[in-house]
Amino acid sequence: MPVQSVQAEYTVRQFGAAGPDDPGYRRCVDWMHAVSHGFHEQRRTDDHVAKALASYKVDGREFTGVYVSGNMPQHALGAEVPVATYATMRKSLNVGFGRLVKAHLVTAVTVRGTHRRKGILRGLITADLEGAKDEGLAIAALTASEGSIYGRFGFGVATFERSVAVDTGPRFRLRGEPTGRMEVSDPAALLEVAPEVFRRLHRVTPGSVDRQEYYRLIASGQLGRDGKPDAGIRTALHYDAAGAVDGYVSYRFKGWETKPFTMEIVDLIAATDAAYLDIWRFLGSLDLIDQVTWTEAPVDDPLTWALEDPRCVASSDVRDMLWLRVLDVKAALEARTLSASGKLVVEVTDALGLANGTWVVESDAGAPAVVEEASGQSPELTMDVADLASIYVGAVSPVTLAAAGRIQEHSAGSVFRAQQLFAVERPSRCVTHF
Ligand SMILES: CC(C)(COP(=O)(O)OP(=O)(O)OC[C@H]1O[C@@H](n2cnc3c(N)ncnc32)[C@H](O)[C@@H]1OP(=O)(O)O)[C@@H](O)C(=O)NCCC(=O)NCCS
Repeated sequence: MPVQSVQAEYTVRQFGAAGPDDPGYRRCVDWMHAVSHGFHEQRRTDDHVAKALASYKVDGREFTGVYVSGNMPQHALGAEVPVATYATMRKSLNVGFGRLVKAHLVTAVTVRGTHRRKGILRGLITADLEGAKDEGLAIAALTASEGSIYGRFGFGVATFERSVAVDTGPRFRLRGEPTGRMEVSDPAALLEVAPEVFRRLHRVTPGSVDRQEYYRLIASGQLGRDGKPDAGIRTALHYDAAGAVDGYVSYRFKGWETKPFTMEIVDLIAATDAAYLDIWRFLGSLDLIDQVTWTEAPVDDPLTWALEDPRCVASSDVRDMLWLRVLDVKAALEARTLSASGKLVVEVTDALGLANGTWVVESDAGAPAVVEEASGQSPELTMDVADLASIYVGAVSPVTLAAAGRIQEHSAGSVFRAQQLFAVERPSRCVTHF
C-alpha cells in the first residue's frame, strides 16, 4: 500500500503486528492503546495487548499510524502515540456458489477527537483502496461503527444481522426430530474444532468472511473481554450421524441476578442446516433457563420457521454488518457464478474513480460471468459502485434498489434480469466481525 503523508503536519507509518521479542513491539503497543482510546474502550492491560497482538500477527495484520510530526505540548499524549489508526488484512470472502475471493479487510479505523474532520480518514482510505487495487484485489470489506461514514468511499451494505431473545420456556418446540447428537465439551476443545467447523460454514455461505485467529480463543474461553480466560464459558458440540463434529455452540450464563434466567450465545457455528436446528433444540432444553439471547443472529433465520410458535423469537436491532467495496468490476463480477442465463449492460459510477465504466455482463446459468468493457452499447442499468456491492452477494434485490431511486433502469425489465443473474444460493450472512 503506498504511504502518503495525509497532511504536512502528520507523518504516516506502516508496520506489521509484532510480538514482544520483535523490534517495533513498543510501537505496536502504543498503536493498540490508540485504538482502544478511539473506540472509547478501557485501556487494555499489558497482558491483554500482548495476547491481542499475538493473534493479529497470526492474521498478518498490517498497521498504519498517523503521528503528529512535531512535538506535542507538555502533558499531552506523546507524539509516539498515533492520532489515527488503520489496519488491514487479507481474508477470503464467499461470493456465492462456493467461490472464495481474496478480499482486502479494513479495520481499527480511528481518528482522535482532537484531530477529527481534517481529512485524515479520507487520506488513509483512498490511498489504501488504490493500493489494494494496484495489488490486484477486486474487493475490499469492513464492518462499520456508523452507517453514515463509508458510503461516500464506495462501500455498500452486503450482509445484515440482528439480536434475538428466544423464549425457551414450554412453548419452545421445534418441528421435526433431532438428526445428530449433542454433547457438552471441554471449552478448550474449540481451539481445534472451531476453525474446522467454521471452514465448512464459510464454504457454503455467501457473504461469509474467513475468521481471525481470536475467534477460536474467544469461543473456547481462552480470551475473555478483559483479556483474561473466561471461566464462564460453556461449550457443546454437535455430531452428525457418522460421528463427525459439524456444529458447536459457546455460551455463558448471565447469572441468577438476571431475570428471566438467561443463557447468552457467545458463538454458534453450524456447518449444516440439521446441526443448526439440533443446537437450538439443545439450547431450548436447558433446565433452569427461560431465554437464550444472541446478538449475532441471522436475519433470515430458519429457527423462526422451524418453531411451532414463531413468536418465541423476539427480534431487535436489525443492523448492517458486512460492507463491501468493489475495486475492480471486471474481476469482481468474473469471480461470481451467475444463477441465470442472460446479458446485461451495466454502468457503474464511482466518486473515487476506481471502478467506474460500462460493462457487458454475460452468463450461462451456473457458470462464471464473462465481463467485457462495453464499446458503444448503451447501459441498461446505472448504479453507484456502493449499490453494486449491495447486490453482489445478495444483501438486497436490484429491484428494491431501483425502487429506492438508487439504480436507474434505462431498459424495461433489466432490473428484474439483474435480480435473476445476481441471485445467490442462500441468504447472505457474515459471522465474522473485524
Ligand atoms: C469515523 C472517523 C474515523 C472519521 O475520521 P475523520 O478523520 O474525522 O474523517 P475525515 O475528516 O477524513 O472525513 C471524511 C468524510 O467523512 C465524513 N465523516 C467522517 N466521520 C463521519 C461520521 N462519523 N459520520 C458521518 N460522516 C462522517 C466527513 O464529514 C467527511 O466527509 P466529506 O469528505 O465527504 O466532506 C472518526 O470520527 C472516528 O475515529 N470516530 C470514532 C471511531 C469510529 O467510529 N471509527 C470507525 C470505525 S468503523
